[in-house]
Amino acid sequence: MAPTDPEIQVVADSKGMSRTAAQVIVREIAQTLRTKESFTMVLSGGSTPRGLYTLLGTDASFRKEIEWSKVHFFWGDERHVPFNHPDSNYRMAHEMMLSRLPVPPGNVHPVKTEQFDARGAAEAYEREICTSLQVASRQIPRFDCVLLGMGPDGHTASLFPGTKAIHEQERLVVANWVEKFKTYRITMTATVFNNAYFIIFLVSGGEKAETLQRVLLGRQEPDRFPAQLIRPTQGKVLWLVDRAAASRLNL
Ligand code: 6PG
Repeated sequence: MAPTDPEIQVVADSKGMSRTAAQVIVREIAQTLRTKESFTMVLSGGSTPRGLYTLLGTDASFRKEIEWSKVHFFWGDERHVPFNHPDSNYRMAHEMMLSRLPVPPGNVHPVKTEQFDARGAAEAYEREICTSLQVASRQIPRFDCVLLGMGPDGHTASLFPGTKAIHEQERLVVANWVEKFKTYRITMTATVFNNAYFIIFLVSGGEKAETLQRVLLGRQEPDRFPAQLIRPTQGKVLWLVDRAAASRLNL
């Protein structure tokens, strides 16, 4: 089956991108909860989603729309650091959003970076995902919504150019050695992302414009541009990009 065509939506700036993303996500959660008992959301890290998380955590027009007790939060990738470390993706989402929403603690599923080494944390997370989404072993979990970012080098989650995790076909979560940071990152694999119902990329900033053009319009070279791995055959993909990042797309 051919990959679905991505939708690209250009917004004026990163503030507008965050607000649009919040509107899209709140609408998706409300729509899904009409027919399902819960909604599973995979969060991304880095700096781009901070504005979105702050809006969802503090803007009453979004907060009151959702039965947050039915939303489960996961992370698409995590640095192998303690929960209170400045680089922790969990810490950022907790501070900006989760600590401000009535989400039951059992609905928040961080990578257990403090209890295991990187490989152990990846294995434990894979088990937690399968248990939480009630998928049998060797089945692929299907998240309702996955948030992803993209680095200027074309990475997404912690699928970095030239790293082993790009080629992982079996595992759902791996510890991926990233030479340029001299550290392991724990990351979901493209197999999981590509099985999601809905994937939203958030990309902001002119420093990503050339890479975004290569990823969206260039030939397929996922080893160099791992964001190109994200090509679901059944899910929707929305690229929410600000004007600076979209400046090379001739849209
Ligand atoms: C991480 C993220 C990563 C991020 C991109 C973009 O753990 O850093 O998951 O994939 O989305 O690096 O980061 P910025 O939003 O900071 O540009």
